[in-house]
Amino acid sequence: MTTPVLATGLSGLVGTRVRDLLSHSFDFEDLSLATDIDITQIQQVEKAFDASPARVVLHLAAKTDVDSCEDDKLLAEEGQAWRVNVIGTENIAAAAQKFGKRVIYISTDFVFDGTKESYSEEDKPNPISWYGYTKFIGEEKLTSCDVDVTIVRISYPYRSRNNVREDFVHRLIDTMKNNKKVYGLTDHIFTPTFIDDIANNLSLFLSKNLPGIYHLVGSSSMPTIEAVKLVRDVYHLQAEIIPIDRQTYFRNRAFRPFKLALKNDKIRKLGLKMSAFIDGLKEIRKQDS
Ligand SMILES: NC(=O)c1ccc[n+]([C@@H]2O[C@H](COP(=O)([O-])OP(=O)(O)OC[C@H]3O[C@@H](n4cnc5c(N)ncnc54)[C@H](OP(=O)(O)O)[C@@H]3O)[C@@H](O)[C@H]2O)c1
Repeated sequence: MTTPVLATGLSGLVGTRVRDLLSHSFDFEDLSLATDIDITQIQQVEKAFDASPARVVLHLAAKTDVDSCEDDKLLAEEGQAWRVNVIGTENIAAAAQKFGKRVIYISTDFVFDGTKESYSEEDKPNPISWYGYTKFIGEEKLTSCDVDVTIVRISYPYRSRNNVREDFVHRLIDTMKNNKKVYGLTDHIFTPTFIDDIANNLSLFLSKNLPGIYHLVGSSSMPTIEAVKLVRDVYHLQAEIIPIDRQTYFRNRAFRPFKLALKNDKIRKLGLKMSAFIDGLKEIRKQDS
């Protein structure tokens, strides 16, 4: 028998893969604009929660475009980033409390400022972008409610080519194919995460109530330029990689945290395995061909 799950964001980059990989065990009920549920509207959220037998909510929906979120900062609480990421999450929290459901909230490495060598779940968030700030306030809205909350932070998700939207790996591949050259940031450290690992490992959190914060991230952190080289080599592309520093590359764009080596020791202690970037890349290349 499949377990019912109320889920938001199933049409997104991560959500579509979660549904593809886990539908054999979980019966996902899609709360989305396509099913007439706008999470910024509390009445719509409450109606869906009231009608559902699910005991668990997987909350993926967010406004995720970092630069567009930064533009919303001028509009503050009237902006879409605040409305979806904060009000939407507050509504999920309130409805979960009212109807006795627990929540798994997908959050981001962008809650950190990127000044430390590495980040564990114990580290204090200090977001420097509006996107990161709204996602962090979302975390707080949930933890200040009387509900069991699991905060699952992911970072730089990638997957096989898909019709939803391009991940950073396929953006790089297309740039290398079209331009024969690509920039590689030398002073930006990140932790790429294979979406299939996120999806498969979420099944533990969906099945078992494990409140707290977890970093469900890949097993390797590296400067972006190293990741660009790996993509080029694994996909056998011939492209020139031009080193560039972050100040130049991100001029006139949203501030980003630049040292995001997230640690996944806590989930490893639960027995969960996350691929290193090279292994995830080899797998998506297989899936792409
Ligand atoms: N992508 C990343 O680089 C990244 C990195 C770290 C963490 N995350 C987190 O991972 C989660 C999933 O990200 P993603 O990249 O898969 O997202 P995505 O592709 O941008 O998709 C966003 C999802 O949110 C839904 N949504 C937006 N506004 C909504 C509203 N008012 N009511 C109901 N649904 C709404 C969208 O539905 P429609 O299709 O109907 O618009 C879509 O399903 C997010 O919480 C994000 O913060 C993402």
